[in-house]
Amino acid sequence: MIQIQNLRVSVEWKEILRNIDISFELGKTYYLLGQNGSGKSSLALTLMGHPKYQIQEGTMTLDGENLATMTPDERSHKGLFLSLQNIPEVRGVRLGEYLRTIHNRHIATGTKPLSSFLCHRYLTTLTKELGIPESFLDRDLNVGFSGGEKRKIEILQMKLLNPKYIILDEIESGLDIDAFRTVAELLARVKTPENTLIIITHNFRMTEFVKPDEVIILKGGNIVERGGGDLVEKIGMEGFGE
Ligand SMILES: Nc1ncnc2c1ncn2[C@@H]1O[C@H](COP(=O)(O)OP(=O)(O)OP(=O)(O)O)[C@@H](O)[C@H]1O
Ligand SMILES: [Mg+2]
Repeated sequence: MIQIQNLRVSVEWKEILRNIDISFELGKTYYLLGQNGSGKSSLALTLMGHPKYQIQEGTMTLDGENLATMTPDERSHKGLFLSLQNIPEVRGVRLGEYLRTIHNRHIATGTKPLSSFLCHRYLTTLTKELGIPESFLDRDLNVGFSGGEKRKIEILQMKLLNPKYIILDEIESGLDIDAFRTVAELLARVKTPENTLIIITHNFRMTEFVKPDEVIILKGGNIVERGGGDLVEKIGMEGFGE
């Protein structure tokens, strides 16, 4: 479980999150909703350990361990995964090599790392399953990929690492209507009773594919409402309000 208690966060001395109390339980799906600028990405980046987001007060634990003192790398090893709202392009790093490196860095101690040959074979089964051309593995990480292709690469990484806690920050952004459906269906398949999805989205149709257990609404850096799936319907009709 991820437990956040009384969290207050600032960026460059500006307070952007306050009084945040949330528990993300294993096996459940959470939707984090709110207007532009309400603090959703800030919360995701604070959880992942972005150095700009300074914790002024409160605690964050993952399976009982203090998250705040861990590096982003350590958080990743504990099973936390963030799919960023803006996915960076990394020139000079081949996608296939990158995937092999992160896979081999995440395997349990004592397990043999995958060789280039075996990893390539494994990755090609994953690319087939996700409908990604195998040739992408030879291209630089995300460089020149379309919005939809980048999102699929994110899902490929989830399949590869099998993280316990997955935060998706607007995974639907930039997707056309068919790509949205494809990505939403893939996500529904990523979800198992052994992982947790924390979905940040402005497209409420996502809830038709991945059902929410809890919906949390942020406004001005505060949690202002929480509830079940019916809250999504209510906001879909009424908006977030003034
Ligand atoms: N690195 C930063 N430097 C300065 N201000 C920041 C920074 N990160 C976030 N903020 C501010 O914090 C507030 C919350 O931003 P955040 O990106 O978390 O919103 P959001 O809910 O993700 O919005 P959107 O739906 O548009 O993605 C905004 O006012 C934003 O300008
Ligand atoms: Mg955001």
